[in-house]
Amino acid sequence: DMNAEVKEVKFDKCDEDKETLTKIMSESVLCSHLEPAEVSRIVDAFEKVTFDADTEIISQGDLEAEHYYVLGKGSAAVYKDEVKLDLVYGAGDGFGELALMYNAPRAATVKSLEACEVWRLDQMTFKVIVMGSAIKKRERY
Ligand code: CMP
Repeated sequence: DMNAEVKEVKFDKCDEDKETLTKIMSESVLCSHLEPAEVSRIVDAFEKVTFDADTEIISQGDLEAEHYYVLGKGSAAVYKDEVKLDLVYGAGDGFGELALMYNAPRAATVKSLEACEVWRLDQMTFKVIVMGSAIKKRERY
């Protein structure tokens, strides 16, 4: 069991935050194949962090990708090769999955447009639960 050797990451959070994250993740394509118990473990593993306005949450080219992110409050813009894309993230939007899924450098810069509250999920939980479960399910058939 590939989950057995992995230490569980867990950050305390209030019921309201738990409910919000559960709703967001249950509706996310990343979690569409997961059992409710697995979604609940993911929700537990999210940690709330804050960013000032005009701050890079993700920097394009970074080789060390440690987190997947979900925006809690605020908004953030996406830049690719210094060009601002026509894409603004708002509450409930997730980003930063590409580098984790493909072990690649960060493919874009995500920068806060105002002070933001951001949920971050460590890469180990992301990989073991979100990606691991898809692999396990596939191997059953
Ligand atoms: P990641 O490469 O891990 O970090 C930057 C994130 O920006 C990326 O994952 C995506 O979640 C997000 N993103 C949004 N638009 C783009 C885009 N056009 N190209 C690459 N990444 C994008």
